[in-house]
This record gives sequence, C-alpha cells and structure tokens, in this order.
Amino acid sequence: MTRILAAALVAIAMGHGAQAADAAAGAQIFAQRCATCHMVVAPNGNVLVKGGKTGPNQHGVIGRKAGSQGDFARYGDDLVAAGEKGLVWDEAQVIAYLDDPVAFLRSYLGDNSARSRMAFKLADEGQRADVAAYLATLK
Ligand code: HEC
Repeated sequence: MTRILAAALVAIAMGHGAQAADAAAGAQIFAQRCATCHMVVAPNGNVLVKGGKTGPNQHGVIGRKAGSQGDFARYGDDLVAAGEKGLVWDEAQVIAYLDDPVAFLRSYLGDNSARSRMAFKLADEGQRADVAAYLATLK
C-alpha cells in the first residue's frame, strides 16, 4: 500500500514537472542557445528572432513534418528520411531530439549509422521542456 502511494506521488510530481514547462524561460534559452543557428521568421516575413542560418527557421516547427522547412536547403538525409517515415514534431519529440539528435535519429530510423547535421545538445531536461513549450507558441 505504501509502495502504491509512493508510486502515485511520484507520478503526480512528474505530471507537475511536465506542466511546469515555461515558454517565457524557453524564449530566453532559445535566444541564448539556439539563435546561433536558428532564426524565427513568421510566414508574413516578420523576423521574431534574428538568428543564424545554419539551421532551419523554427517558426511553426511544432506540428511540421521533420526536415520539411521549405526555405532550408541543407537538411541531412537522415532527418528528411525521418520525416518521410512519419516524424512530425511535437513537444515530446523535440525534447527527446534536443537531448541527443544523433541518438534520436538512430532510434527513430532503426539505423545505427544515421547522422544529424545539428551539432548541439541541450542536457538539462527542464530547459528542453521550456524551449519546446516556447516553440509551440510560434504558430
Ligand atoms: C550549431 C548549430 C545549431 C544549434 C546551436 C541548434 N541547432 Fe537545431 N538544427 C541545426 C541544424 C543544422 C539542423 C538540421 C539538422 C539535420 O538536417 O540533420 C537543426 C534542426 C533542428 C530541428 C529540426 C527542424 C526541422 O525542420 O525538422 C529542431 C526542432 C531544432 N533544430 C531545434 C533546436 C533548438 C530548440 C535549439 C536550441 C536549444 C537548437 N536547435 C540549436 C543547427 C543547430
């Protein structure tokens, strides 16, 4: 009984952790860490975040097929293949991807030679959740 109660409390605590994702904090993380390589430009051309062109525009990335941002010509084949296989970004997928893009693609494709062109990892799970919550606001 105690064990069941403890498990329930852990589940509740984890649920709270997920809900605590903070899009405003995520915007700051994006500006500090992601904008080196990614910009955010709305479809009407409004530049919401000035950023680099090494990676694709992140506007609308949540809900978009992986590797399909039309203005970006330098996707790796394996990210495009993941999109073709059905990968559509949601917050959970982005959180997993940011932890380790290479491992994520290898697992998704079931191919241990898959590669990523994103040479970046965000180790802190809370920061990953915040930045994913921020991306979800960019619609
Ligand atoms: C060093 C440059 C660099 C940094 C820093 C970087 N990225 Fe990327 N990102 C890329 C590149 C390049 C790609 C394309 C990867 C590929 O084609 O394999 C990419 C792809 C992505 C994708 C998939 C986009 C799509 O259209 O399928 C997401 C989501 C993403 N990055 C989010 C982030 C977030 C969030 C951060 C910050 C926490 C970040 N990236 C930091 C370079 C970077």
